[in-house]
Amino acid sequence: MLHLRCGTLADFDFLYQVDVEDEGISVDFKADWTEKEWESHRQRIRSLLSDDHAATFILEDADSHCRVGVVCGFFRNIDRDTFPYPTGFGFLSRDIFPHDGRFCEVYQLWVDPAYRRRGLGSALKCELEYECLRRGVGLIYTHTESANKHVIALNHRLGYRCVRVGPIWDDVERVSLVKDLRPA
Ligand SMILES: CC(C)(COP(=O)(O)OP(=O)(O)OC[C@H]1O[C@@H](n2cnc3c(N)ncnc32)[C@H](O)[C@@H]1OP(=O)(O)O)[C@@H](O)C(=O)NCCC(=O)NCCS
Repeated sequence: MLHLRCGTLADFDFLYQVDVEDEGISVDFKADWTEKEWESHRQRIRSLLSDDHAATFILEDADSHCRVGVVCGFFRNIDRDTFPYPTGFGFLSRDIFPHDGRFCEVYQLWVDPAYRRRGLGSALKCELEYECLRRGVGLIYTHTESANKHVIALNHRLGYRCVRVGPIWDDVERVSLVKDLRPA
């Protein structure tokens, strides 16, 4: 049986491994990072598990206690937050975002290959949407490489719409998608 729970710092090694393996990303942009950049990245991963401005959900196989899936996101404000690097949402028109500027950026979505195509990736993403609703956050943002047609299909099935296609921090073409969580 599978069990869905909130992530904690005990999940750091798992989340870090998923992140370093970077499945679904064709260019290894971390290849020439300095140790200082890696440490700041590890801090970012820790914050996903411990910071109020982030949420992580883990799917665990209750029998084997193996972690078989994860979704996580950062809660941001388009009017207040600034970043020292290009972000996908930074390219978007302000009127895509809710009046209060608050949105969730999906940071990671991963399901163990042995458990794929059973609706788990969708269920994880829905859990992050529920977390947005619990926090009163009106928009969820995600991006993926244009080549990841199955990820784009998954998002469309969940009600996301494409708002931009183009490079973000390198030459790779990426699709930015959002889902409006505010009542119509
Ligand atoms: C993307 C990922 C999370 C999907 O997880 P999953 O549990 O298999 O997804 P679901 O079962 O919820 O799939 C929902 C729908 O998405 C689409 N989809 C998902 N994987 C697909 C695939 N490999 N090929 C075609 N369509 C696919 C289908 O429409 C699917 O519905 P269906 O199975 O009824 O046809 C998983 O493949 C993964 O971890 N990939 C590696 C990491 C990654 O690429 N993450 C996203 C990076 S931006």
